[in-house]
Amino acid sequence: MADQIDALRLALQHSPENVPLRCHLAEVLLAHGRADEAATEYRAALALDPDNAVLKTGLAGAFWQAGKKSEGLVVLEDVLQKDNTPAEAYVLHAHMLLQEGDPGRAARQYRRALELNPELADQELADRLGVHPEQDETAHEVVDGRMRQGMEDGAPETEFVSERPDIDFSDVGGMEGVKDEIQKKIILPQTRPDLFAAYGKKAGGGILLYGPPGCGKTHLARATAGEVQAGFLAIGLHDVLDMWIGNSEKNLHAIFNHARGNTPAVLFFDEVDALGASRSDMRQSSSRHLINQFLSELDGVEHDNEGVLILAATNAPWHLDTAFRRPGRFDRMIFVPPPDLGARAEIYRILLRDKPVRDIDHQHVAKKTKGFSGADLKGVVDRAIEAKLDEALAAGEPQPLTTKDLVAAAKRAKPTTREWFATARNYAMYANQGGVYDDVLEYLDAKHD
Ligand SMILES: Nc1ncnc2c1ncn2[C@@H]1O[C@H](COP(=O)(O)OP(=O)(O)OP(=O)(O)O)[C@@H](O)[C@H]1O
Ligand SMILES: [Mg+2]
Repeated sequence: MADQIDALRLALQHSPENVPLRCHLAEVLLAHGRADEAATEYRAALALDPDNAVLKTGLAGAFWQAGKKSEGLVVLEDVLQKDNTPAEAYVLHAHMLLQEGDPGRAARQYRRALELNPELADQELADRLGVHPEQDETAHEVVDGRMRQGMEDGAPETEFVSERPDIDFSDVGGMEGVKDEIQKKIILPQTRPDLFAAYGKKAGGGILLYGPPGCGKTHLARATAGEVQAGFLAIGLHDVLDMWIGNSEKNLHAIFNHARGNTPAVLFFDEVDALGASRSDMRQSSSRHLINQFLSELDGVEHDNEGVLILAATNAPWHLDTAFRRPGRFDRMIFVPPPDLGARAEIYRILLRDKPVRDIDHQHVAKKTKGFSGADLKGVVDRAIEAKLDEALAAGEPQPLTTKDLVAAAKRAKPTTREWFATARNYAMYANQGGVYDDVLEYLDAKHD
């Protein structure tokens, strides 16, 4: 390898202006962990070809590898803003976002990279992000599909279809406290407005769910709609921002109006942190307008939100503008922790409900999967089933799933929630204004089984 680098350097002495060659040298250096030298070469190449997005992405990667995180991010943001962004830039951004504790956005960037170039698939990254092709929520896809369609037509569609989820609270393991809060804060005011009026309380506002990825925020939101037999409209805000540039405000209004015209409805804003102009957000100036629009829709100033239950979720509540948390808005922030022992056993029961099983000791498997998220548990079950299928194919007959199969699958899996807590701990310790993250601190301090 040293030979290869020497040879490349020598070749460059003869043709110092050969950008692709210098780029190649930089790549080789980077691949061998010589990040600082790689950065030097990328810079030299950029001096010759300043707008080259591949070179910039490489430089960002070199900075990042050298531990110069913010330099890397600045260079990368520049690349992400242009429209010839190489797929590799999205992969790099996914890594950065994951490290920043924003797995939701990381997953999106990773997916985007794959759309551009499926060969960039990175199993380890996908596992850490919990990105599995079959796991995308249907509601997302509906909305997503419509948006794409709208883009092709040149004008975004403003018609939405809400889903009627076939799950309710009984399909959500654990989370008794959270379910109770949702009952009191958003379901009761809608079903018994008289009671609330009697105490001079006004219905309104929503609940913001936050916590590590895969712990059931989206699942719970859908189940809430099922619980009250309401329509469910899930809006991925990153999609709103990305695909409706210039039309975001109009479309946000259309979304709220659709819900108002189809009550009872659960309006669910996923990745709501997309609205809080985070450091790495590209459209900071325009996002201010969008936030204001969102807040005024939420406040129901011009239009009544009666019959509309509003939920939002985020992995990165710290990126959210504090204006969101004022009374009448998302004045309840609920921490959705990883499932405890009892909840894990229940989730296994739910996940295995319609599967061929024999004498499963749910509690035992739950004990073996401490710290796992709901999505991680789903991964364990999926894996166990796959292994069983192979066995059944070999044996020529179907075999029921056993405790042993699940434990074996669990051994090969790791919980994905740790990274989130590493980031959350910092915010909870150093940016805990008004005790917003007390629940996180309490969780970190407590012993878990
Ligand atoms: N409490 C639970 N009960 C039953 N299933 C659960 C529970 N929590 C998670 N799951 C399962 O795990 C999957 C992933 O959970 P979900 O998508 O709701 O997580 P999330 O908190 O929204 O994650 P992200 O932050 O990545 O969006 C669900 O589709 C569901 O199958
Ligand atoms: Mg989710």
